[in-house]
Amino acid sequence: MEKTPREPEYPIDDRILHRWSPRSFTQEPISDEQLFSLFEAAKWAPSSYNNQPWRFIYAKKNTPFWNDFLSLLIDFNKEWAQKAAALIVIISKKTFDNGNFSKTHSFDTGAAWQNLALQAGSLGFVAHGMEGFDYEKAKTKLRIPDEFQVEAMVAIGKQGPKEQLSVALQKREQPSLRRLLQQTVFEGKFT
Ligand SMILES: Cc1cc2nc3c(=O)[nH]c(=O)nc-3n(C[C@H](O)[C@H](O)[C@H](O)COP(=O)(O)O)c2cc1C
Repeated sequence: MEKTPREPEYPIDDRILHRWSPRSFTQEPISDEQLFSLFEAAKWAPSSYNNQPWRFIYAKKNTPFWNDFLSLLIDFNKEWAQKAAALIVIISKKTFDNGNFSKTHSFDTGAAWQNLALQAGSLGFVAHGMEGFDYEKAKTKLRIPDEFQVEAMVAIGKQGPKEQLSVALQKREQPSLRRLLQQTVFEGKFT
């Protein structure tokens, strides 16, 4: 499959283009002020009926919650994410307040996560999404009620030097490419 280099086919906001998911962190802490600025950005995402189904459960490094969060991750993610400043578990509410099922709860929460990631970039942090963790364990350990779906985890930190990673991870420490728009966008019907 042909892929674009990391340059846009059409002009876009630099913050969108330059967001990526590094794994090397400096171990610099994140303040509550900074962390809550990320949640604030997420808060302003659009959602169906303004239901705001996203919820964020977080643990900062050097707090009693940290080890519980770290223990959820698969070993591959633990190796690099243990140097992050904060870990977040993102969940979404599957129903509206009237009890009806929300078809778009994951979609809406995805929009909130992207806001959070872009805001992290604006503050000089990176946000690295993760699905490599134990979803069932997250539900029980973090006492997540059944009406919520566990969506993903995120590692937040200041980007560190590539050389600090293992050789295997260093090879992956670069911005990734993308499919061409012609493979993704269709006029009129799916082709
Ligand atoms: C929901 C989600 C889950 C992801 N899971 C992992 C993961 O478990 N481990 C990992 O190293 N990267 C993970 N990633 C990072 C993706 O591999 C990365 O976003 C993708 O390759 C695109 O690269 P970029 O974010 O650098 O542009 C995940 C990203 C998202 C959005």
